[in-house]
Amino acid sequence: MKILGIDIGGSGLKGAPVDTATGRQLAERHKVEIESPCAPAKAAAAAGEIARHFNWKGPVGIGFPGVVCGSTIMTASNLGESWIGLDGVKVFSKATGCPVKMVNDADAAGLAEMRFGAGKGQKGTVLLITAGTGIGSALFYRGVLFPNTEFGHIQYRGKSVEKFCAASVRKKKNLSWEEWAGRLSIYLTTMEGLLWPDMIIVGGGVSAKHDKWMKFVKTRTKVVPAKLFNGAGIIGAALAGE
Ligand code: BGC
Repeated sequence: MKILGIDIGGSGLKGAPVDTATGRQLAERHKVEIESPCAPAKAAAAAGEIARHFNWKGPVGIGFPGVVCGSTIMTASNLGESWIGLDGVKVFSKATGCPVKMVNDADAAGLAEMRFGAGKGQKGTVLLITAGTGIGSALFYRGVLFPNTEFGHIQYRGKSVEKFCAASVRKKKNLSWEEWAGRLSIYLTTMEGLLWPDMIIVGGGVSAKHDKWMKFVKTRTKVVPAKLFNGAGIIGAALAGE
């Protein structure tokens, strides 16, 4: 099936048509920048621009950086409070003129990695963490997703752990890759003590630069970078649109 996948992030919306049978992106992705926080109307207009860019008339899948229950947006920590309670499917269907399905962005990335990437064939407990503007999580057992896990909001020193080790924190605090990986290790060690995963996949923009930081990560569990790199968000969003 051909589905337009749109990944909403703190710095922009990225989209591309995807063949969901193969996980292949059918065209180069199109990005529309936004700033966080971002009003719903602005992000909706950006999604509309992406659909128009591809002259898209078919189904659309959207990965959203917050909890999505059914079609309702329950949280949007990095986009702002104006999103809470909105019917996201309605907002984005209107903006794109296409039928829309929506899921949490990290769940979307997890779906893609489990079907086509680093988690392919993994039958045990797999935890995927995305490190970008915030920290997202997706948890799988025997290949089945437990949705909306929000492990980026586990408390560390009185704050959401994403304020300690998201990729955006590395840039903001000018941390070296080693310092950042040290922070990530503290977080992943906590998670492995709670979930005992067989594998941890780290996705988001940092996955493409894994040679810079992976060597500094110290955990008991095998940690691997997302195989689809940052593309997992778009491909997974398309899978969610099936
Ligand atoms: C949100 C998650 C999201 C993650 C990555 C967090 O702040 O609460 O829902 O998956 O950021 O975008």
